Amino acid sequence: MKNVLVTGGAGFIGANFVHHMLRTYPDYRVVVYDKLTYAGNPANVAPVAKNPNYAFVHGDICNREQVRAAVKQHNIDTIVNFAAETHVDRSILDPDAFVQTDVYGAFVLCEIAKELRLERLHHISTDEVYGPIPTGKFKETDRFKPTSPYAASKAGGELLVISYFLTYGLPITITRGVNTYGPYQFLEKAIPLFITNAIEDQPIPLYGDGSMIRDRLYVLDHARAIDVVLHRGTLGEAYNVAADMERTNLDVSRKILALLNKPETLIQRALDRPAHDVRYALDTEKLGALGWEPQMYFEQGLEETVQWYVDNQAWWRPLKNGAYLDYYQKQYIERR
Ligand code: NAD
Ligand code: DAU
Repeated sequence: MKNVLVTGGAGFIGANFVHHMLRTYPDYRVVVYDKLTYAGNPANVAPVAKNPNYAFVHGDICNREQVRAAVKQHNIDTIVNFAAETHVDRSILDPDAFVQTDVYGAFVLCEIAKELRLERLHHISTDEVYGPIPTGKFKETDRFKPTSPYAASKAGGELLVISYFLTYGLPITITRGVNTYGPYQFLEKAIPLFITNAIEDQPIPLYGDGSMIRDRLYVLDHARAIDVVLHRGTLGEAYNVAADMERTNLDVSRKILALLNKPETLIQRALDRPAHDVRYALDTEKLGALGWEPQMYFEQGLEETVQWYVDNQAWWRPLKNGAYLDYYQKQYIERR
C-alpha cells in the first residue's frame, strides 16, 4: 500500500484518519476525495494541506468517471471509503441522498476497484446495520436488522461490498464502528450539538427520557482500528470496532454541562426519534486478536473534546449558518 484514496476524508472520522495516516506513515500518499456536502469541510484537512504527501480531489463517489479519473491520476492502490450521508435524523426527514451515496456510491467504488484491480477496498460501516440489542453484544456473524433509512442504506452498501468479494474475489475489508466522538465532528450530532449549545446557553434537546445507550468510541481509537485492519486484517472479513464505554444520553448531557459549569436546567426534552434504537453493543474479540484495543477512557475523551470545542470556536461558529439553522428549525422547532 502506497497511494491511498480516502473518500469522505473531509468529514469527521475521515479527516481524523487522514491526520493519523500522514503522522504514522511518512512514505504513504494520502488523497482525499470528497463531494464537500454540508458535512464536508476543507477546514478539517487544513492542518495537512501543505503536506507534500497529501492531495485533495473534489468529487462524488456516485460519479464513476470522476472516481476512475482520480484513481488513475494519483496511481491509487487502496480506497478507504468513509463517504456517506451519516445523520440518522436527516435520513428520516429526507432519505433520498442516503440511498444514492451509501448504496449506489459504494457500488461505484466496488466497480472501479474491480476494473482497475486495486489492492484493497476498505469500507467503513456501522454498528447500526445490526439494529438494536437490549442486552448482550453482536458478533460479526450476526444478522443485519437495521431500523432507520440511514442504517438500511449502510447495510445495503456493505452487502454489495461483501458480494464483490464473494462473487469476483475483490480484495475488501470492512469495519463496523460504534458511536464516535472527538474533534471536527459536525454540529448536528448529539455530542457536538450539546457542547456548542451549552457554550451558547442554548437548550440541549434530549430525545425521550435520555435513557438510550450508545457505546462511545474516541475518534483516534476508531482511526487506529481502521489502520490495523488495513495492515493486518483478513481479506473478505468484517471487524467490529467498539470501546466498551456505554453511557446513556442523559449521562453524557449532564457530564457536558458539568464540564462547562452550566446548569442542568438547559436540558430540554425533545420529541423522540422514530424507531429510536435503545442500545447498540459490539463484541470486539476478532479485532482484539489483531492487536487493537481502545486507549481512550470516555470521561477523559469527553473532557478533551469539550476543551477542543471551547478552543476552536473559529472552526464551529461559521457552521451555525443558514443551512444548518434551517435544518435545526425543521428537526427541533417544527416537529415539537
Ligand atoms: P460525516 O458526515 O462527518 O462526513 C461524511 C463525509 O462524506 C463528508 O466529508 C461529505 O462531504 C462526504 N460525502 C458525502 N457524500 C459524498 C459523496 N457522494 N461523494 C463523496 N463524498 C461524499 O461522517 P462521519 O461521521 O465522519 O462518518 C464517516 C463514515 O463512518 C460513514 O461511512 C459513517 O457511516 C461511518 N460511521 C460513523 C460513525 C459516527 O459515529 N460518526 C460511527 C460508525 C461508522
Ligand atoms: O453508532 C454509530 C452511528 O453513530 C453512526 O453510524 C452514525 O453515522 C452516527 O451519526 C451515530 O449515530 P447516532 O444516532 O448514535 O448519533 P447521534 O449523535 O445522532 O445520536 C446519539 C444519541 O443521542 C441517540 O440516542 C439520539 C440522541 N440524540 C441525538 C440528537 C442529535 C438526542 O437525544 N438529541 C439530539 O438532538
